[in-house]
Amino acid sequence: MTAPLRIGILGLGTVGASVFQALHLHGTAIAKRSGRTMRVTAVSARDRKRDRGIDVSGVEWFDNPVALASSDHVDCVVELIGGADGTAKEAVEAALSSGKHVITANKALLAKHGSALVALAERHQVALNFEAAVAGGIPIVKTLRESLAGNQVTRVSGILNGTCNYILSRMELEGLTFDACLADAQRLGYAEADPTFDVGGFDTAHKLSILASLAFGTAIDADAVYVEGIASITPLDLVMADELGYRIKLLGVAERTATGIEQRVHPTMVPKGWAIAQVMGVTNAVNVAADPVGELTLVGPGAGGNATASSVLSDCVDIARGIVLPPLGMAASALAVLDRAPMQRHEGGYYIRLAARDRPGAAAGIATRMAEQSISLESIVQKRPPASRAADPTGKSGEPVPVVLITYATTEEAIRKALDAMIADGHIAEPPQLIRIERG
Ligand code: HSE
Repeated sequence: MTAPLRIGILGLGTVGASVFQALHLHGTAIAKRSGRTMRVTAVSARDRKRDRGIDVSGVEWFDNPVALASSDHVDCVVELIGGADGTAKEAVEAALSSGKHVITANKALLAKHGSALVALAERHQVALNFEAAVAGGIPIVKTLRESLAGNQVTRVSGILNGTCNYILSRMELEGLTFDACLADAQRLGYAEADPTFDVGGFDTAHKLSILASLAFGTAIDADAVYVEGIASITPLDLVMADELGYRIKLLGVAERTATGIEQRVHPTMVPKGWAIAQVMGVTNAVNVAADPVGELTLVGPGAGGNATASSVLSDCVDIARGIVLPPLGMAASALAVLDRAPMQRHEGGYYIRLAARDRPGAAAGIATRMAEQSISLESIVQKRPPASRAADPTGKSGEPVPVVLITYATTEEAIRKALDAMIADGHIAEPPQLIRIERG
């Protein structure tokens, strides 16, 4: 009979405790599917005394995660420490180098060091599995690496950060402030230890760079991702989006274009009728366009202990079954260098909110600058508050007033040039808000 798979868990936070508990409660059923029993034989966490709602008596405790990673008492290391460098990286390298399989939920580590770690795993003929690193409980890594291995992917996009989607959803539906929603997301355990990773778009960028690698057979290149976060989104943007028939989502998009592979993360207006616009709260969604399958969308819980544990367990089952695949879907040496498309060449529609100085000629000046760049306007709305109208019935005061422009498809370069010219003209009182529109 095959000996049990001995698992060591590094990091006993909500995910680690959920994995431990699931193996305790459902170990027999999981063993039947895997053809092999799994046992958590070692753990490492900072605080031995903390009540995690699990019974770790009888499990070997390591104060030093790297020592656990190199120990002969485990066959497989589950890394749930987090962080691109430091202990997590040392422990993963130690485990791979000593011939142990590794499972990690650490997207920051993979985004920065993924290509080197994949090569290390390959050298030692062990698995490096990371289903939990992207989109929590959604099995998108396996979908791209295995189920769609016979397809040519043209685009992968989605809502990849539960915290941002939770914040935008609550701001829109309940009219709450950004800060209040972020505090709730942290309390519920969705946010990263440093929430700027979430709201600044970097967590999405890390995940997107991993998906792009799997989708296009390229080395992971997180530095090539264009990143904007959600901190600049105001209640007025959400109201305007609603009036115009859109919802605002933080999307990650990786796409083959005529100018190379585009990887971009930014708040995006998506038509309310689209499936992705219906995805609210901490839920994630990933859409893949590929030939010959066409389009498919996977939706599910993107953050939280149980969702992430589900993906970790699936990776454990693969290892117990003896499945060791190239982590990024092909040999490390076969991965191409990503041919980065310049963001300036991005084409699409734009929402632009300006704080325009309310005086004669401002609208004409703004329209002229757009026309000079051959940008065609789909709509233009000036939202003058009633109080300011009463204070200035002639409209010559120059007080800032919100003006929203929606453009037809144009390039990022044209938009940037038009905005720079408007700023130089003195028609605009504050930095413009710019949100890209997806129209399909
Ligand atoms: N902070 C992440 C999120 C957790 O909000 O999606 C899952 O990676």
